[in-house]
Formats: sequence, structure tokens, C-alpha cells
Amino acid sequence: MSVTTTATKTAATTTASEKKQKTICCIGAGYVGGPTMAVIAKHCPNLRVIVVDRDERRIEAWNSAEMPIFEPGLAEVVLPIRGRNLFFSTDVASAVRDSEIIFLCVNTPTKEYGSYGTTGYDMSSYESAARDVARFAESSKVVVEKSTVPVRTAEMLRKVLYANRRSQDYAFEIVSSPEFLAEGTAIHNLEQPDRMLVGSLDTPEGRAAADAVAEIYRAWVPEERIIKTGLWSSELTKLAANAFLAQRISSINAMSALCEATGADVQQVAQAVGADRRVGPYFLNASVGFGGSCFGKDLAGLVYLCESCGLPEVAEYWRQVLTLNAWQKKRWAKLVVKSMFGTVKNKTVCVLGFAFKKDTGDFRDSAAIDIIQILVEEKAHVFVYDPKVSPVEINRMFPTVTCEKNAYTAAYQAHALVIVTEWDEFKTLDYARIYASMAKPAFIFDGRNILDHHALGRIGFKVHAVGKCYPQYQF
Ligand SMILES: NC(=O)c1ccc[n+]([C@@H]2O[C@H](COP(=O)([O-])OP(=O)(O)OC[C@H]3O[C@@H](n4cnc5c(N)ncnc54)[C@H](O)[C@@H]3O)[C@@H](O)[C@H]2O)c1
Repeated sequence: MSVTTTATKTAATTTASEKKQKTICCIGAGYVGGPTMAVIAKHCPNLRVIVVDRDERRIEAWNSAEMPIFEPGLAEVVLPIRGRNLFFSTDVASAVRDSEIIFLCVNTPTKEYGSYGTTGYDMSSYESAARDVARFAESSKVVVEKSTVPVRTAEMLRKVLYANRRSQDYAFEIVSSPEFLAEGTAIHNLEQPDRMLVGSLDTPEGRAAADAVAEIYRAWVPEERIIKTGLWSSELTKLAANAFLAQRISSINAMSALCEATGADVQQVAQAVGADRRVGPYFLNASVGFGGSCFGKDLAGLVYLCESCGLPEVAEYWRQVLTLNAWQKKRWAKLVVKSMFGTVKNKTVCVLGFAFKKDTGDFRDSAAIDIIQILVEEKAHVFVYDPKVSPVEINRMFPTVTCEKNAYTAAYQAHALVIVTEWDEFKTLDYARIYASMAKPAFIFDGRNILDHHALGRIGFKVHAVGKCYPQYQF
């Protein structure tokens, strides 16, 4: 399949005037590469920004009216500048050749095959992108690690680049600048980042490369938010940041189980604990467990790193965050079964939400997957509605699940409603109407604590929520 849109053609055919314009590129047009480079292009109209990917369908989508990912505000950033100074293309060779700075933003998932020589991460896409840079570069380049990578990846990158460069005259300077955006709020995070991290070797060439990258960010990021560090600190910071965030979720989820056992209310506990400025109020929402493509795999990568550094106690400490998260997902699914008189066989269970969080269509490692898996094993008839995840994708994973176009049809005649994703539209559904259409007793399991449980109880629902006890609405 050839990609023949105007934007792609424009990227491939560099005119003389464009050649004077500084070009940068990004390899990897995914959830991070696309939005990140779009925001750079928006704030740096003097830069020609090319985002390349080997996935032709993804590039076609970026060049079409239907973006390949759903992200609030993304189209508003991309559409005015696409074809002007922002281009999406499959032509990796031209993009590398023309660019002074090359961002690597390819996927770095957990390695799930083999056992020998792993870094915890599957770095094959990353290494292959690095080999492309060396193969196609016809001058010296600054190569920026945007993907989340194991510590000391820059060493591997340097070896691959120098071993495969086309001329001894070409030098490659590596900068680590991991991305901290969160899906669902990516554009806001990119427009107003808490910080932009720029790590480099402490050499004149390393500092110059870091400054060239920082110069791009300076177009819209205040100087005090651009943090310069060493290479290894920058690489480790990304793993540490995700580990700290995931740890907070597992901490409050651990408390949620204790709340359910003791009659305490996890939201009241979180509010009071978070009022201490040393703790802070963010990321203290109890839930069915975290998902997404990052927290799990970055924790697994951190655990691997600790083990390979001979630090089994540190590895065990972080592994526990993962263990607790897996337990919480399972605990919640078991609670559904147990509450419904110990069986969901031949009962209809409506699952609201499949994405790993609201405002994204991304369902990688979503809690919904684990929960639905258990419900299917328990022989429930599962109906699913998610505003953004395509039914095709859901049925690819769960062929027996029925996908519906709205929450009302999904809940029709169901014995239970399980809220898995915190989509805003689930907060404003007509629950009296839903209750009237359900089998009785009608159970509701609020896995995100987004609903008014007392109002639901008054309607007649048997109410269960994370970290809450409602004996008055359960019998
Ligand atoms: N998704 C997030 O919220 C998030 C946030 C911060 C950091 N990160 C990190 O950013 C990186 C990218 O994540 P993502 O979610 O954007 O991944 P993604 O899977 O959405 O996108 C990666 C893209 O890279 C392309 N690709 C892979 N190898 C290639 C190659 N050799 N040449 C050309 N294209 C290639 C793939 O086709 C894919 O489109 C990961 O390391 C991730 O951990 C992700």
C-alpha cells in the first residue's frame, strides 16, 4: 500500500527553500510521537517536523480526517499545521537524511519471549530504528531518546550508531528526553509540562546537543521547567516517575481493601491523607487497578534493572506494586461474582468502559481485560460499552462478548452493571431508567467511585464501590 497524500508528498519532495529550514524528525508515530511532534511543530513554525512510522495504515490515518488515536485537543493542534510544517510519512530514509535532530519514539514493550540477554524490555523496535538512523544518515546527528528505555540504553545506541555509520566523519550525540505525558490529557501535558527533562553526557559535544534540544522546548516551555541532567539520571528518572505514580495507586488500592473490611471510606481517608502537603492530593483515587501500556511494563523494567544490579530487596519492593495491582483487579472481579450469590453463570453482566482510562481509546493492559476474562471464565454473558474503543478490537480479544453502541442497550436486562473506566458520560446516565430495565436484584459495582452511591441505593440498586461499605444498600 502506498501513502500518497499531499502531506506525504510534500515531506518527501524537499524544495530548495525548505532545505534552509531546519528539519527534525521523529521515528514512531504513536500515542507519544504524534502528539509530541505536533505540539513542537505548533510552537516552532520555523522547524520542519516530520513524523515517520513503518506502519503505513497509521501514517495514512495521521494524514486523513480520522486521527489514528483519540486524544482531546489533538485534531485542533494537528489540522492547522499538517502539510505546513508538520508532516507524516513512511519515508524513514529521507526524514533521517534531512534532519539535524532525530527523536526515537518507538514502542518499548515488556519482552515476553525467550529468556537470555533481556533487559526486561523488548528493545528490538528501538534497535531497528537506531540501525535505520545509522544506515540513512548522511551527516552528523543528535539522536534523542523519547521512548521509555532501560538505564544505559544510550550506550547501546552509541554502539549501534557508530558501528553502522556510513562515514567516519559522522558523529552521533545522544540526548535523553523522556516523555511524561499521560494519555487523555496529552495535549495539556505537552502544552504546559511540569518539566522537560534533557539528559546528556557532560562533555562539550553532549552539552551542545542538550542545548539544541532544550532550544526547541524553549519556544513554549519556561526555562525553569527545562531540567538538565546526566544521561543515566534522565533515563532512570522516567522509570522512577512511573514507579512512584503506580506506587501511589497501589497504596490507595491496598487501603481500599482495608476500608471495605473495616467500614472506613477510602475517599474520606484519601482526602484527609492528601491534605498533608508532604503527601499531596493527586493520584489518590482508589480503583479497580491501573492499566495502560506504561506503568506495568516500566515497573517490570525497573524490577529487572534492580535484579540485574544485584539489588533483590529493591526489586522486591517495586515488584510488590505490581503484585498488589494484579490482586486488586482479581479481587474486584471476585467481588462481583461473590456478591451475586457466588455465581454469574448465565447471568448478564454489563461492563461500562474498556479503555484503560477516560478520554482515550487505548485499552492496552486495561483493567477491563482482566475483569472480563474472569467474568467470561465464570460463564457470564458479558455486554460491553465503551465510547471510544472499537467493538472490533474488543471482539478480537473476547469473541463471545457483545458490544453495544450505548450504555442503555448494554445494561438492558442485565443482572449487574460494572463500571471499569471513569468516562464522564457514565456519571450522567439516567440510572433510574437503567434500573427499571435490569433484572432484579440489580447490582452495580462502581470500580472508579464516580457515581452517587446513595442516590443509586435509593433507586433500588445493590451498591458496591471500591473501598466503601454500604450494608444498607446491599441486602
Ligand atoms: N503511551 C503513553 O502514554 C506514553 C507516555 C510516555 C512515554 N511513553 C513511551 O513512549 C514510547 C512510545 O509509546 P507509544 O505509546 O507512542 O507507542 P505506540 O505503540 O503507540 O507507537 C510506537 C510506534 O512506533 C512505530 N515503530 C516501531 N518500530 C519502528 C521502526 N523501527 N521504524 C519506524 N516506526 C517504528 C510503530 O509502528 C508504532 O506506530 C514507549 O517507549 C512508551 O513507553 C508512552
